[in-house]
Amino acid sequence: MSQRPGPAGPPNDAGWWRQAVIYQVYPRSFADADGDGLGDLPGVTSCLPHLADLGVDAVWLSPFYPSELADGGYDVADYRNVDPRLGTLDDFDAMVTEADRLGLRIMVDIVPNHSSDQHLWFQEALAAGRGSAARERYVFREGRGEGGGLPPTDWPSSFGGPAWTRVADGQWYLHLYAPEQPDFNWDHPEVREDFHRTLRFWSDRGVSGFRIDVAHGLAKDLAEPLRDLGADLSYQPDDLPEDGSHPLWDRDAVHEIYRGWRQVFDEYTPPRFAVAEAWVRPSRRTAYASPHGLGQAFNFDFLGARLNASQLRATIDDALADAREAGATSTWVLSNHDVVRHPTRYALPDHFTKQDIAAWLLTDGQDPRPDMDLGLRKARAATLLMLALPGSAYLYQGEELGLPEVTGLAREELRDPIWVRSGGTVKGRDGCRVPLPWTHDGAHYGFGTGEPWLPQPAGWGSYAADLQRGDADSVLELYRAALRLRRDLVVDEELTWAGSASQTESGLLHFTRTGGWHAVSNLSYQSAALPEGEVLLSSGPPADGQLPPWTTVWLRTA
Ligand code: NOJ
Repeated sequence: MSQRPGPAGPPNDAGWWRQAVIYQVYPRSFADADGDGLGDLPGVTSCLPHLADLGVDAVWLSPFYPSELADGGYDVADYRNVDPRLGTLDDFDAMVTEADRLGLRIMVDIVPNHSSDQHLWFQEALAAGRGSAARERYVFREGRGEGGGLPPTDWPSSFGGPAWTRVADGQWYLHLYAPEQPDFNWDHPEVREDFHRTLRFWSDRGVSGFRIDVAHGLAKDLAEPLRDLGADLSYQPDDLPEDGSHPLWDRDAVHEIYRGWRQVFDEYTPPRFAVAEAWVRPSRRTAYASPHGLGQAFNFDFLGARLNASQLRATIDDALADAREAGATSTWVLSNHDVVRHPTRYALPDHFTKQDIAAWLLTDGQDPRPDMDLGLRKARAATLLMLALPGSAYLYQGEELGLPEVTGLAREELRDPIWVRSGGTVKGRDGCRVPLPWTHDGAHYGFGTGEPWLPQPAGWGSYAADLQRGDADSVLELYRAALRLRRDLVVDEELTWAGSASQTESGLLHFTRTGGWHAVSNLSYQSAALPEGEVLLSSGPPADGQLPPWTTVWLRTA
């Protein structure tokens, strides 16, 4: 078992990521240095001291590449460059230098399933016409029906509507996301070679690892005739076939691609690391997390689980077992740029499903009114629980400030393609992407001098980092204290459950880690007895030997 390293660990530690805390930056919403309303790389660099002070090990940047922003940067026009609105490659290098100085590692996002329709190759494909070699790098097909006027298959786009768009000469191209995101043809050797080049390009610039977007989508069954999904084959990760036989998602052939990537990662010392964003069945996750593949895979089960002790215990056990089987560590995520921020999720009725939350967003967060005090209390408890687990914790920018989801964005302010593609029936992900408040006053709460690309709501300044710093009760200080303690407390990857089955049923989740360190969460509406021990940290004020409702404590016993 590898030990968790210190700040960024020894530079050559190949296992630095195993129990690292990785902070996700969504660059356009993080900090705007040049006042154009869009966050940028110099903005990231200027705020790295905040992240070092917070105590994270690494920073993962969502895409900062040239993009038309049809999908918030996940439509990449040039994989080896920086969007001029966000800076230059020199700015990127300066950011890496500053990160090095502060002992932080940098990870970048790789988006291999699709490019932007502005990518040179796609523009070439459009110009070159049907039957051309340029079209082979993407997935162009003739349509069905009279005059080829119908899409080649029934495949739906994940953002709503069909996954095919027709071009001027009558052919159709595949896009499993927005029409501005044409899917690559991964059977094409040039596509494969080009991504090796991209991985080396960023590795050579000092990047320690990669987050792989839609990692389960690359290897489609493109043999003719293309297969319709029909009524039986769904897109839902839990319904995907276990044998890799879906025509689009999670096909076994994808792992051959990642074995090639592993060879590239292993050219470096330490080897570059990667984490897969793969929406697949848990049983199929291990292949992505294999040391011969990407190395780690996101586990979103924790994010999706209710704060229910029995359910969480099972979720944690499964995730740890899967990770162990893969030879990896598990990942823990409460929020990211694709989901409603967790203090707001927890402020909603316990029985709310994903669908209920989506419907609630359409009421602009008004019906029902969320109980934000309860949401924050639960969020703090969930955070200390997550940070006590063995494995890597991925934090999303602003969660260290306890930011809620912004639910009041007006329809015309929405930028997420989901809003338009769903015909105005799904509000989308803009509410978790609103630019951060750094200061309680000043232009746009310290985000930058220009009008932010998404408006910040009134009162946003009350969450500002400068107000929270030094306030022992703040969310920021809770995260700082937890990350500081975690550095000393984590010595191996073991977890042992404590507490009886009936205690778990009544909402108590209690485990120990090596060195007499306990994490005890009371995930219920009643107080519980606090186990004996020295309280190291608590997500809320403990009361008289009692563990109040929705509270996690870290304890040490002799
Ligand atoms: C997953 C990303 O996290 C999401 O933001 C994006 O829209 C899709 N992949 C498509 O790239």
